[in-house]
Amino acid sequence: MPVGIDDMAIYVPKLYIDSKDFAIARGIDPHKLEFGIGIYKMAMVDTNQDPACMAANACLKLMQKNDLKPQDIGRMYVATESALDESKAMNSFVIGMLEQIYGDGSFEHAGGIECKFACVSGSYALYDNANWIRAEENNDRAAIVIVSDIAKYDLGSAGEYTQGAGAIAMLVKENPRLVIFDPKVTSTIIKNEYDFYRPFGRETPLVNGNYSNYLYLIQVKKAFDSYREKAIKTKLIQLQEDESITDKIDYISVHLPYRKMGEKALAYLLRHEWRCLPRWKQIIEEVGMDEPTPKDPRGTIESILADKDFMKADETFRKAFMRTSFFKQVFEQKMASSLEASAIIGNLYTGSMYMGLRSLLEFEYKKNIDLENKRIGFGSYGSGSSAMVFSGVIQSTYKEIVKDMNLEREIGERSKLDMQEYIRLHSNEGKMNEPILNSNNEFVLVKIGGNTDYNAGLREYVFSN
Ligand code: HMG
Repeated sequence: MPVGIDDMAIYVPKLYIDSKDFAIARGIDPHKLEFGIGIYKMAMVDTNQDPACMAANACLKLMQKNDLKPQDIGRMYVATESALDESKAMNSFVIGMLEQIYGDGSFEHAGGIECKFACVSGSYALYDNANWIRAEENNDRAAIVIVSDIAKYDLGSAGEYTQGAGAIAMLVKENPRLVIFDPKVTSTIIKNEYDFYRPFGRETPLVNGNYSNYLYLIQVKKAFDSYREKAIKTKLIQLQEDESITDKIDYISVHLPYRKMGEKALAYLLRHEWRCLPRWKQIIEEVGMDEPTPKDPRGTIESILADKDFMKADETFRKAFMRTSFFKQVFEQKMASSLEASAIIGNLYTGSMYMGLRSLLEFEYKKNIDLENKRIGFGSYGSGSSAMVFSGVIQSTYKEIVKDMNLEREIGERSKLDMQEYIRLHSNEGKMNEPILNSNNEFVLVKIGGNTDYNAGLREYVFSN
């Protein structure tokens, strides 16, 4: 049964920090943020916003745009790593908000959970819901998967310039108009790791930055190896001797903690895929040096990162590889459009790859490229750590949805924060009832908790218009 994403809606908070202002305030070269990280604007939440109201706002847009009634929805999953409660799932908050519009009890027939595995959990949520429909447990109803997060790092840390916030709601159903997931090829990898984690009680994560970058590359590559095996075995993709599976995938959309990470992931994957092919000889000629190997190629990630000579030579090789005509052509054709949104929003954790998909569709359509039947390969990564690689094919009906996509219009007019306001917001010094912006036509948080054991932590939201 063909199942996949029928439509998607986004919610991005309207406050942002400009990367130049930020760089100057932190004494960093602005070029580092623009070119080394690939960030221009990072979205920030106001004092009266949280991940649940962003999720509800994205979901309401999706429902209104498609004229969906609660009865059309059988499941609602929210994937997030910005949980609000140790027990109460974020989708229950979202349903509470939506029922203010659709009526008390209007979602009672539905089900769903909150999913957690850092940034990859949205992909698991999509996979599980697609399978729920394939198993025909859905009683003709669709599922909604929402990914919603606030990426917040310590002030003054290296992670601070990879912040962002936002939510995406995706409608998952049979015969979808946008993308059908390829069956029987979804591949995962999992390992207990501490590259990035947020112990109970902490608002910001503990991050081993370079380790996390490297682990991301390795885990996605491993999941991709498993995807390749399945794709060949199921005959989804057939390869000639001099072909790589990346030749057969029209677009590559990966997790985007920051724009540049997408480029690095593509370079890592292509090096891995092309190394054994006849074209590698020409590539090496263009690169102008042999590909370095670590002292202990079978060593651990730590031992490879500690091999300073190798790391330095490998960085030189990678940068030269990324300047080759081979890389540039694939990058422009298969990835560049998916990175546009990341540069002006920042990290959305669970939502990053899906904002990338949204960006890919909009900006490729604007180039007048025919997207029908194009295959997208997804490389989803979550710290901790797990990667999921899967693929899907764009449907002939995509134009119905994509023609109206306009990131700037959908985000709406944005307001730049000065550094003082940013630090005040970051330090949670702002009051919920004194937001920086006036909210319009959206859910906002108006109260948290009372004074008794029975209502402590209780969150109240209203639809402000
Ligand atoms: P850093 O210390 O800024 O790194 O940390 P850097 O000093 O290596 O600089 C980054 C790049 O800027 C380098 O380019 C420099 O050369 C370049 P590259 O070698 O990578 O191509 N650069 C300049 N470019 C132009 N002009 C200049 C200049 N100076 C330097 N003047 C890091 C960067 C990403 C590690 C840090 O921001 C961080 O820790 N971020 C948070 C963790 C993170 O995002 N990790 C990504 C992988 S893990 C993941 O994606 C999962 C995650 O989303 C969480 C989840 O799953 O839930 C994080």
